[in-house]
Amino acid sequence: KNACCTANTSQELHKDTSCLYNFNWDHCGKMEPACKRHFIQDTCLYECSPNLGPWIRQVNQSWRKERILNVPLCKEDCERWWEDCRTSYTCKSNWHKGWNWTSGINECPARALCRTFESYFPTLATLCEGVWSHSFQNYSGGSGRCIQMWFDSAQGNANEEVAKFYAATMNAGAPSRGGLLVPDPRRVLWGSS
Ligand SMILES: *[C@@H]1O[C@H](CO)[C@@H](O)[C@H](O)[C@H]1NC(C)=O
Ligand SMILES: *[C@@H]1O[C@H](CO)[C@@H](O)[C@H](O)[C@H]1NC(C)=O
Ligand SMILES: *[C@@H]1O[C@H](CO)[C@@H](O)[C@H](O)[C@H]1NC(C)=O
Repeated sequence: KNACCTANTSQELHKDTSCLYNFNWDHCGKMEPACKRHFIQDTCLYECSPNLGPWIRQVNQSWRKERILNVPLCKEDCERWWEDCRTSYTCKSNWHKGWNWTSGINECPARALCRTFESYFPTLATLCEGVWSHSFQNYSGGSGRCIQMWFDSAQGNANEEVAKFYAATMNAGAPSRGGLLVPDPRRVLWGSS
């Protein structure tokens, strides 16, 4: 319902090294399936959710013109992601930059050693917040105020109300701007590529 992605994108993002980004989850040997499912779910949220509008910011990067920034991710999601990934391996704590892309897919740069997730991401927040340069923030406040990466769609999608709440709150903070989801130019981040 109201997806922002096509069926092709949805199917593609379940593959290893999908044609979406040529990003290889298995850059330090096989990522545990229990861990990988969180990255697939994360990519699905990023590509397909219609409820991330309040956190979209314009950027000037070679590979995209918009990003999400500081989406309040529910703590339970962050916790499970971190717990399920502790035993998998990686070589970097920020997966947005610093890879060797010479071969067309991301490889560990020279001198970046493969170690457990736990060694690169010692806390929940270093994973959820750090891995995609603050696309998410680990939200531990009250319920109904955070975006759920995992939910049972049979119970509806709680993220709809959360997005409406933040859209209204952010809009109230910028009364001179008419459109609900028009990005405020003062908050636009010009990221480097
Ligand atoms: C999605 O579309 C691309 C480009 O047309 C194609 O190469 C790819 O095989 C498609 N993926 C799926 C899962 O259908
Ligand atoms: C984006 O970056 C390019 C290259 O640095 C530059 O030419 C262009 O003017 C920038 N665009 C904006 C909107 O800042
Ligand atoms: C990048 O990876 C290629 C192999 O794909 C390797 O030949 C090259 O030395 C690497 N470059 C750096 C800077 O690590």
